[in-house]
Amino acid sequence: MRGERAVTAALIASVLASIGLLVVYVFVGGNAQAEGLLLGLALGGMGVAIVIWAVALIDAPVETEARHPMPSPGETRRSARDALDADRIGRRTFLVRLLAGAAGFLGAALLLPAFSLGPAPGNALFQTPWRRGVRVVDETGKPIRPGDVAVDTVRTVFPAGHVGSADGQTLLIRVPPELLTLPDGRGGWAPSGCVAYSKICTHAGCPVGLYRARDHSLLCPCHQSTFDVLRGAVPTFGPAARPLPQLPMEVAPDGYLVATGDFPEPVGPSFWNVTHREGKAGSTPSALPSVRGGEPGPS
Ligand code: FES
Repeated sequence: MRGERAVTAALIASVLASIGLLVVYVFVGGNAQAEGLLLGLALGGMGVAIVIWAVALIDAPVETEARHPMPSPGETRRSARDALDADRIGRRTFLVRLLAGAAGFLGAALLLPAFSLGPAPGNALFQTPWRRGVRVVDETGKPIRPGDVAVDTVRTVFPAGHVGSADGQTLLIRVPPELLTLPDGRGGWAPSGCVAYSKICTHAGCPVGLYRARDHSLLCPCHQSTFDVLRGAVPTFGPAARPLPQLPMEVAPDGYLVATGDFPEPVGPSFWNVTHREGKAGSTPSALPSVRGGEPGPS
């Protein structure tokens, strides 16, 4: 009897804690300490109930000691047995239902973290503001001609109308055109030796801000990933495993640089399905060079 009361109390405590957790999350706006405490109570109540149930309520083997028979009259025994069985079955049914209810509330409470994941990113990881015909502009919004960029210098540029865009920021570098050995299909992407690569490092997303003209390399200051500007920004050193995506460009009739599409691959750090969406609409599909040309760096 005491065991049943204890199981009931523990399960009710678990239910109340689960309901409290739902209330704190949905109506109070969330509180990490309160949610942790209530989740602990919900799990603890369930655990205590299960332990007491197993120890005190589950029938152990019946041990009997021989003694002289002292039977009550048959009718008395029958009625006593019936009364006991009915009571036992009623209490057990109640406890089983209470256990199922507590498990249901606890399951609902455990689903709450899923609602904190925020909205699904959709196509956001695969698209930037770059589109066919969008002008290449500097940080003041001024359009750029190939002649505005000195050979072996780098500039940070943006798509017109999106100056400061996090995923549209791009490095524009001018190199002697005869040195370029870009991957197949990119022959026309670097007018007058102007090549453009995403500024977001493909390792962990730092801005790749350093250009070493001596060997035409872009360097990421965070973990020293190095990218070969002349060969499609393939990584030659450091932990980055993917090239910086290259922006396809041409010179418009008015002499200014424009994009001919978005980056052909997602910009920034790799994620599990990054290679599933190559060749987006509006850009030329390209192979992803994956061979590293130098010594492996630290991981
Ligand atoms: S973020 Fe660029 S090397 Fe790590």
